[in-house]
Amino acid sequence: LAQPVKNICCVGAGYVGGPTAAVMAFQNPNIRVTVVDRDERRIRRWNSKHLPIHEPGLGDIVRIARDGSREISFTNTPVGSRANDGSDTASSSESEPASDGHHFRMTVVPSRQPNLIFSTEVTKCISEADIILIAVNTPTKSRGIGAGRATDMTAFEAVTSVVAQHARPGAIIVEKSTVPCRTAELVRETMELHRPGVHFEVLSNPEFLAAGTAVQDLLQPDRILIGSLTSESSRRAAETLATVYAAWVPRSRILTTNIWSSELSKLVANSMLAQRISSINSISAICEKTGAEVDEVAASIGRDPRIGNKFLKAGIGFGGSCFKKDILSLSYLAESLGLEEVGEYWRQVIKMNEYQRDRFSRRVITCLNNTLVAKKITLLGYAFKANTSDTRESPALEIIKTLLEENPREIAIYDPCCNPVVTRNEIKILLRDQAALQDDGGPIVVYSNAYEACAASHAILITTEFDEFRNKKRLETPKGLPGITFGSNKSLDPRPFKRIEPSETDILSLHKF
Ligand code: UGA
Repeated sequence: LAQPVKNICCVGAGYVGGPTAAVMAFQNPNIRVTVVDRDERRIRRWNSKHLPIHEPGLGDIVRIARDGSREISFTNTPVGSRANDGSDTASSSESEPASDGHHFRMTVVPSRQPNLIFSTEVTKCISEADIILIAVNTPTKSRGIGAGRATDMTAFEAVTSVVAQHARPGAIIVEKSTVPCRTAELVRETMELHRPGVHFEVLSNPEFLAAGTAVQDLLQPDRILIGSLTSESSRRAAETLATVYAAWVPRSRILTTNIWSSELSKLVANSMLAQRISSINSISAICEKTGAEVDEVAASIGRDPRIGNKFLKAGIGFGGSCFKKDILSLSYLAESLGLEEVGEYWRQVIKMNEYQRDRFSRRVITCLNNTLVAKKITLLGYAFKANTSDTRESPALEIIKTLLEENPREIAIYDPCCNPVVTRNEIKILLRDQAALQDDGGPIVVYSNAYEACAASHAILITTEFDEFRNKKRLETPKGLPGITFGSNKSLDPRPFKRIEPSETDILSLHKF
C-alpha cells in the first residue's frame, strides 16, 4: 500500500522540527531528510557544533545523521606493512612516520552516508520532497479577533502557501505543528487556491515530545498518531508515513485515526495533562488548611490504575510553551462552536494555575511581614521545568513580577541550565514596562553560583524542580530561627554541606517536591 519515500523535507527548524527530523534521518539512513528554515542564523547553528536546542542525546543523533558517523582507528604499524590490507571499507587513510620508526596509520571508516541536511533553500527542498512536514510556531494570537486565546496561524499559513506553490504533485503534506481542529481543511483550500486541480495528500501527525526528554520521547514514543481522510489515497498516504516511523517504532504504537481526531487529540492530550496539575494544585490549597499532605494524597489516589500516579506533583503551577496555549486554543474552539460551558470548563484549568502561582507569591510576601523593602529574595530555578534552559511561560517570571511590586532590595536568581547573561537580558526585555526595573536591570541580579545567590537572602524560593535543589533540609540555627542546608549533591558544590546565612532564611517551596 505504501509508496517509497526517498526525500522528506521538514519546514521549521525549531523545538519540534529539528529533533523530529534528526531522529527520522537517524533511523532511516536511506531517506534524505532536509530541515529548512528561513532563519539563516538558526540553520547555521544546526550545522555547527553548538546546536540551537539543548536536549540530552540530540548532539550525537545530529552528528551521526548529519555528518555520517565515523569509526576512527589508530594502528601502530611497522613501516612497510599495510594496515587493513584487503579492507574495502577504508575510505581514506593517512600515515606519518613516528619517532620510533613506525607509522601511525589512521583509518577512517564511514559507517553511513550523511542523510540529514539543514538548509535555507526552502522552496528548492520543498519541491524535491515526497513528504513535507510543517513544523512551525503556532503561538497564541496577541491581537485582533480572539487575541490572547485563538491560535496565531500566521507562520503556518505562510508556510502552507509556499508549500502549495512548490510541492511536487502527489506530495504528502503533514501537519506537525499543533493546530486547531479542522486546520487540514484550510491546508486543502490553500493547495487548491495555488495549484487548482493538482493532487496532494494532507495528513495530521502531531508531536508529543516534552522539553528535556525530546530524544528519548522520539526514540521510544508511547504512540505515533497519524490522521487521514477516509479516501483510499489518503489512507495510502498515512501508510506511507507509517512506514517511515515503522523503521524504529513498533507497529502496535502507530495509531491511525481520522484527521480531525488526530488534530483534536493533540490539544486534548495537553489540556488533560494540565488539568491534572491544576486538580492536584487545588487539593494542595485544601491540604495547607487542613493538615493533609498533598504528596500523600497524590500517592494514595495514584495507586488506583484508573487515576495513575504520573503528573500529580503539586507545585507552583505549570509553565512551558504549550499547556496554556493549547488549553486556550481548545476553549476558544469550543466557544467558536457555540459550546460556552465547555470553553469555560477548560479555562478554569488556567485560572487555577494562576491562582496557585499567585497564592505562592502572596505567601512569600505575607511570611516576610507584608513588605519586601530592603530585603533580598532568591529564586532557585528560572526555567519552566528541570533539565532545560527553556524559560517560556516560566512561573518564575510571573513570581518575579509580583515580588517586584513590593520594591525589594534584590531579587537574586540562579538557574543551573540558563546562561546568566542571557537570562538577565531576557528578563530585562520581558519586564520593560515594570516600573520597579531600572535601566541597569533594577534589583534583579542573576548569579552563576547558587550559594552566592542565596547568601544573605531573606527567603529562598525553589521555583524549578532541579535535582540539585531537591536534597534540602531545614536546620535550626543557633538562634533558634530556621536556616537552610543543601544536600550533598556534588554537581552543586564539592563541599558536602553548606549553611546559608542569615538566620532569617526560610524555605518556601510550596510542595514543589
Ligand atoms: C508538554 C507535554 O508533556 C508533551 O507531551 C507535549 O508534547 C508538549 O507539552 C508540547 O505540546 O510541546 P512540556 O511542556 O515540555 O511537555 O513539559 P511537561 O513535562 O509536560 O511539564 C509542563 C509543566 O508542568 C512544567 O512546568 C512542570 O513543572 C509542570 N508539572 C508537571 C507539574 O507542576 N506537576 C507535574 O506533576 C508535572
